[in-house]
Amino acid sequence: MPTYHDLDSKVTLVTGAGSGIGQAIAIRFAEHGAQVAVNDVDPDLASATVERIVDLGGSALAVPGDVSNSAEVNEMFTAVESEIGTVQVLINNAGLVGPMLHFFEADEAWWRKIIDVNLTGHFLCAHRAARPMAHAGSGVIINMSSGGATRAHRAFTAYDATKGGIEAFTRALALDLAPYGIRVNALMPGSIDTSGLDAAQRSLRGENIPMGRIGEPADMTGPALFLASEESGYVTGDVIKVDGGMLAQQRSATVDIKPPSDFPDLEDLT
Ligand SMILES: NC(=O)c1ccc[n+]([C@@H]2O[C@H](COP(=O)([O-])OP(=O)(O)OC[C@H]3O[C@@H](n4cnc5c(N)ncnc54)[C@H](O)[C@@H]3O)[C@@H](O)[C@H]2O)c1
Repeated sequence: MPTYHDLDSKVTLVTGAGSGIGQAIAIRFAEHGAQVAVNDVDPDLASATVERIVDLGGSALAVPGDVSNSAEVNEMFTAVESEIGTVQVLINNAGLVGPMLHFFEADEAWWRKIIDVNLTGHFLCAHRAARPMAHAGSGVIINMSSGGATRAHRAFTAYDATKGGIEAFTRALALDLAPYGIRVNALMPGSIDTSGLDAAQRSLRGENIPMGRIGEPADMTGPALFLASEESGYVTGDVIKVDGGMLAQQRSATVDIKPPSDFPDLEDLT
């Protein structure tokens, strides 16, 4: 396992870290010695992630709060600053995936809620983090996009709009903050099993992914470590796809014109 020594003791705030991808990232950063602050809108989920980190021998601080509420965001950062120190790495992961609504079922409240949490939440946290990072002369912000920024999901107009916005926000923010030593990038997860799909659903999802399997939350953690560390010190304004090749493909894998079965001498290898 590669080690990222420069993350040792780095104050890292992960939003929406009470479950799924955010939780996996928080745990992995703690394993690399980072001082992790665990945010979630659900305080019990935030505390449960902290307990898991403590059980693994690390230390972490729960900072529950709603990322779409500026007062709660300010409170959360103030708590991290007084308990651990200035946030050096911000991972803007919190996001609402649903509910899925066809455009004819959608209403303004649904649209506003998803925009508020996914897009405004990224703005509020980055806005609160950036000035102290500028004073320190360094910092890293990692945003969470989705394949929906590039290729649409059905019944996800609001969600996909936020993810396209997050990628544009990432580039624009990277330009504004580059002179202050702050790097801003995004991760783009493909299909990551964060809802505990059954074996049949996992296999169905995996069929259409070039690498042949659905992703796990742990698949997101290495790219997050890389973007947070000085190993990516000249990378900013970028989006890293972590999707087993999903966005790289044109046709579905199920209609592949050259399936592995065409090469009997290699059949034991797939
Ligand atoms: N799982 C995937 O396949 C996938 C694919 C593409 C993008 N993503 C993105 O990755 C991120 C994490 O997704 P996940 O699958 O782990 O989801 P998840 O639902 O498992 O985790 C999201 C967490 O965010 C928290 N949260 C929700 N609203 C919040 C708020 N207002 N303030 C603070 N916390 C809040 C939830 O309580 C939850 O614990 C999201 O931004 C999502 O859009 C996920």
